[in-house]
Amino acid sequence: MKHEVIEKNVGLMAVLIVIVIAIGGLVEIVPLMFQAQTVNPSPGVKPYSPLRLAGRDIYIREGCVGCHSQMIRTLASETQRYGPYTLAGETVYDRPFLWGSKRTGPDLSRVGGRYSDDWHRVHLLNPRNVVPESNMPGYPVLTESLVDPKLIETKMRVLAWMGHPYTDADFASINESVVGKTELDAVVAYLQGLGVNTATGVEETQP
Ligand code: HEC
Repeated sequence: MKHEVIEKNVGLMAVLIVIVIAIGGLVEIVPLMFQAQTVNPSPGVKPYSPLRLAGRDIYIREGCVGCHSQMIRTLASETQRYGPYTLAGETVYDRPFLWGSKRTGPDLSRVGGRYSDDWHRVHLLNPRNVVPESNMPGYPVLTESLVDPKLIETKMRVLAWMGHPYTDADFASINESVVGKTELDAVVAYLQGLGVNTATGVEETQP
C-alpha cells in the first residue's frame, strides 16, 4: 500500500505535511491580497498627513502596540465599548498595520476625538495625572526631540512609490505641518486621527 510507505517514513511524511499545509495556506491567503474589500481604502480613509505619519512611527518605536490593539472585533462586547468594528479597508495605508493582539490598555482604533489634545498631553507625560489607577508608562521623553521634516519627506516618497496617493500639495505642506513640532505633538495628532475619517454606518452591516 502506498500510504504505508508514507506512514513508515517520518521524513517523507513531514515533507508531504508541509506541502499540504502550504497549499491550504495559499488558498486562504492569496485571494485576500486581491479582494477589493481588503486592498481598497474604506470611504473617507486617506493616507497619513506628515505630522500623523511621524506620530505613527513614534508609536511604533515606543512599543505602544505592545499594550494597545487597533482592531475592534465583530463582538457585541467590543463594538459597544469601542465603536463599529474595524474593516480591512481602514488600514490599507498602515504599513505595517498595527492591529496588535495584546490589550493591557484599551483598543485605540477609534480613540480620535474622544479626549482633548490637552488630555492626551497630560496623559502621555504621566498617565496617573488623569487616570490614577493607570499602569501605563509615562513618556516625558517625547517632549525632548523635534520631528525631522527631511525624514518624513523621505518616508512619504517611499509610501508614494508604494502606491499611497500623496499629491504635490501634500509634499509642499510638510514643512508647514511638522517644523517645530515635538514628538509629543506628533503622537497626539496621530491619536486624534484614529478612526475619525472612517465613514459611519458600519453598524448597520453588523452580523
Ligand atoms: C505597559 C502597557 C502600556 C503601554 C506600553 C502603553 N499604554 Fe497606553 N494605556 C495602558 C493602560 C493600562 C491604559 C488604561 C489606563 C489609562 O487610561 O491610562 C492606557 C490608556 C491609553 C490611552 C487612553 C485610551 C482610552 O480610550 O481611554 C491612550 C490614548 C494611550 N494609552 C496611548 C498610548 C500611547 C500613545 C502609548 C505609546 C507612547 C501607550 N499608550 C503605551 C497601557 C499601556
